[in-house]
Amino acid sequence: MSNAPRLTALMLGLGLAIGATLAPAQDADPARAYVDALLAKMTLEEKIGQLNLVSVGPDYPKEAIMADIRAGKVGAMFNTVTRPDIRQMQDQVVHSRLKIPLFYAYDVIHGMRTIFPINLGLASTWNLDAIATSGRISAIEAAADGLDLTFSPTVDVTREPRWGRASETFGEDTWLTSRIGATLVHAYQGNDLRAPDSLMASIKHFGGYGAVEAGRDYSNVDMSPQRLMQDYLPPYRAAAEAGAGAVMVALNSINGVPATANRWLLQDLLRKDWNYQGLLISDHGAINELVLHGVAKDTRDAAEQALKAGVELNMHDDVYGKQLPALLAAGKVTQAEIDQAVRDMLLTKYRLGLFDDPYRRLQGQDPVDTNAESRLHRAEARQVARESLVLLKNEKAVLPLRKGATLAVVGPLADSPRDVMGNWSAAGVAAQAVSIRRGLENAVAGQGKVLYAKGANLLDDRDVLAYLNSYEPAVAVDPRSAGEMIAEAVAAARQAEVVVAVVGESQGMAHEASSRARISVPDTQRELIKALKATGKPLVLVLMNGRPLALEWEQEQANALLEAWFPGTEGGNAVADVLFGDQNPSGKLTMTFPREVGQVPLYYNHLSSGRPFDAAKPNKYTSRYFDIVNGPLYPFGYGLSYTTFDVSAPQLSSATLKQGDTLTARVTVKNTGDRAGATVVQLYLHDVTASLARPVKELKGFQKVMLQPGESRELDFPITEADLRFYNNDLKLVSEPGEFKVMVGLDSERVREGSFTLL
Ligand code: NOJ
Repeated sequence: MSNAPRLTALMLGLGLAIGATLAPAQDADPARAYVDALLAKMTLEEKIGQLNLVSVGPDYPKEAIMADIRAGKVGAMFNTVTRPDIRQMQDQVVHSRLKIPLFYAYDVIHGMRTIFPINLGLASTWNLDAIATSGRISAIEAAADGLDLTFSPTVDVTREPRWGRASETFGEDTWLTSRIGATLVHAYQGNDLRAPDSLMASIKHFGGYGAVEAGRDYSNVDMSPQRLMQDYLPPYRAAAEAGAGAVMVALNSINGVPATANRWLLQDLLRKDWNYQGLLISDHGAINELVLHGVAKDTRDAAEQALKAGVELNMHDDVYGKQLPALLAAGKVTQAEIDQAVRDMLLTKYRLGLFDDPYRRLQGQDPVDTNAESRLHRAEARQVARESLVLLKNEKAVLPLRKGATLAVVGPLADSPRDVMGNWSAAGVAAQAVSIRRGLENAVAGQGKVLYAKGANLLDDRDVLAYLNSYEPAVAVDPRSAGEMIAEAVAAARQAEVVVAVVGESQGMAHEASSRARISVPDTQRELIKALKATGKPLVLVLMNGRPLALEWEQEQANALLEAWFPGTEGGNAVADVLFGDQNPSGKLTMTFPREVGQVPLYYNHLSSGRPFDAAKPNKYTSRYFDIVNGPLYPFGYGLSYTTFDVSAPQLSSATLKQGDTLTARVTVKNTGDRAGATVVQLYLHDVTASLARPVKELKGFQKVMLQPGESRELDFPITEADLRFYNNDLKLVSEPGEFKVMVGLDSERVREGSFTLL
């Protein structure tokens, strides 16, 4: 039996589901008054039309959509992204009976025209201001193209490097993802959703999508209610409470109940317990998929279940349009249920200011050139990208490089502007993106020399290539033999002082529907690395990838490793800034890098166990693998700098903490090296004894500080009782008196401790 009924029963039994604040009196709210008056004028067909979210496709051409808009059968559009196209669609509305404007949505995930680093890279900045900058510029650019809503932020927590969509997440930590999610909601939406440069946020994928089994996309989630509530759901709540206008419902089931039909998830938790009032959007085709999940006997049943669960706007397949009239006639759904969904849709349009002005985000002249250079925000993209890079290894200070040097820049990803942008790169134009090769050439211009050779194809498995190229010619294959390509790269390496090899994954390898069973650098590229290493030249590997890779072998070969993720439009320049030391790297990982895929899931905040492995005193009968070095290759929170830092043990303001009080952990961080640099001081807590096994540590604070050589600074981290709460066995959010450890460090492994008692 699935856990869902038990969870529902527990929550209802505890009154958690009914603790909602009451909505404001309806007649006191002008939005509701407006929408209810409009609703009263609508026919059933017009109402159901509002629930239809469509996009242009081979089966549904533009003309057919325009006719449907005139007939009042469309509520909103996605994937129409230029002003002329959006205007043309909106112009159809005046020919409809009630002239209800459409809104326009798009996956603006890490930039619209200017592409910022992928989300995993954004998170690695540990800089909420930088992340806010990326969100604000995304909104400005998307709204300038006429868009109203983005299907973002993705606040799925994930511990699954096999999952291609890890790239779209902010990593494995619940608390950090919550903060980033809320930051982005504010950044997209601004202070006023009606402002012409505000973009409504639709958080996704509710809920728990990041925990799909074995990282296989679209598979299911089966986990304890405690883990779900404690680790996976809080970021959706944080982003909802930050005011996100919409929520996209996930494709997966949770403990057997698909999210799209999950009344506990959507009604008891989201609507009642969290008092969420925004719009609930289905994911692409998700309502129909209830049949394949095996919980609906046919499409009609699926529509009934989705509507009753609370799914309002139907993405892509118009199941509601086809099924709701008959379901209503048969008494399977009620008019009130349909009206509620339509009301939320109309309220969304009201909040966006579209009833006042359907062309709110289409003011002024259309740009002569949609892709004009002047519409980009390159300086901001470069600055954010510089902070997203994570230095994983730097043996004998091989980095930073000299600009006067001759460099051999090689690898299948070295000169690939398309890959630099990463997946979900919205309206980004590859020709405007700076490849790593170009970035290095820009940096050394007039001083050093850059020799380029591709060196290897991305991979050589024909089936995998066909998969990656199935929708677009994404991966170009060089027809030369592997031997010829390697020989060319080796010749370049021999003439150079240092070799920079750009290796990893193409953007399409870390995307939706891009799960990998092998999380390694493909063999063609490993052969290249082997040959480069054999030249004896210093070898710098710049990694492009959208997930943690198993890099033990690469770490042995390389003198330096720089994790560049997919760094966006200005990626090449940002990588050059770091390689040449114009920017001292400060990024830190937000997902654990395992040594081997067999360790997955491997994450820093695992529960305490009865026989923990201790590397200092290795014991056979402990929780370990006997055939590899245990533990991660690079832990959560890890990242090097060109300088060094030291953090003191935390000094606590008191040995005890009472309800309502704040305790302060004070540490001194010092730049002990000879360069200015920034680092991220991280605070973790551990509940030593509790009614449930608790994580060995949990991130509860961080501060990013910039320090001059020799400079030190005192940092205060406040700790309150709320930081100590967890969902107990009755699914009550509680803190339990007793001892807590406080750990502070520059990553999640090397920490210094203190402790206090919660009274
Ligand atoms: C399906 C994806 O799961 C979702 O993240 C995305 O927003 C929609 N497609 C629309 O493109």
